[in-house]
Amino acid sequence: MKVVICKDYEDMSKKASEFVINYMMEKPQIKFGFATGSSPIGLYKNLIAAQKEGEISFKYAKSVNLDEYVGIDPSNEQSYSYFMHENLFDHVAIKKENINLPYAPENDEKYALEYRKVLDEFGQRDIQILGLGPNGHIAFNEPAEKLNRRASIIKLTESTIEANSRFFENEDEVPKYALSMGVEEVFNAKTLIVLASGKNKHEAVKRILNEESIYTELPASLLNLHPNVYLFVDEEAYNG
Ligand code: GLP
Repeated sequence: MKVVICKDYEDMSKKASEFVINYMMEKPQIKFGFATGSSPIGLYKNLIAAQKEGEISFKYAKSVNLDEYVGIDPSNEQSYSYFMHENLFDHVAIKKENINLPYAPENDEKYALEYRKVLDEFGQRDIQILGLGPNGHIAFNEPAEKLNRRASIIKLTESTIEANSRFFENEDEVPKYALSMGVEEVFNAKTLIVLASGKNKHEAVKRILNEESIYTELPASLLNLHPNVYLFVDEEAYNG
């Protein structure tokens, strides 16, 4: 894993976006895996700005997303679909038909099977953007005795429900299940760009970087198995 230590959130977003922008300049028909959450918002802002400046174009870009809450409509402001439109898609020239978002209106594994097909057709991504859950989850692959290889519906842990409740009026409204890519699918990218900012990511970052073992109880520790991972981490997440 290549570790890029950044001063703060802004610096992390800047360095990660420079990497992505350079990649897009070389390969405009880039295949992206996008993530939601607060971690990539700054990166997306910088990509939007770079497109406005004419440095990059999304005309030939394609994307898949990591995950989505179960039972939440794309028109709901808390859905990851809404997030992606609000924070990126509505501001760049990516074609609608090139956007792939997971969707599960109810807790039924058939939606996961459908998404597996989408991912198989999409194939390997050039760049997968990833955030880290404070408990070390990647996408919605929560700490557990075993992890899913393929897209599945996942029961969220109490700690994730609590972490995500900041976006909802109250904790009862936070969905309890999500549709998420499995680990094998998350890893099906030439390059993984992992963003970690803030003290609440320190514990996970410290363990990923310092421990010699990998643990399904710390899904992000599996990142050590991918040959091409860039971790953009700010000082708070790195030093605690
Ligand atoms: C959610 C998402 C993850 C994301 C994580 C971190 O649970 N499923 O894909 O990486 O939160 O979120 P944040 O970037 O807001 O800390």
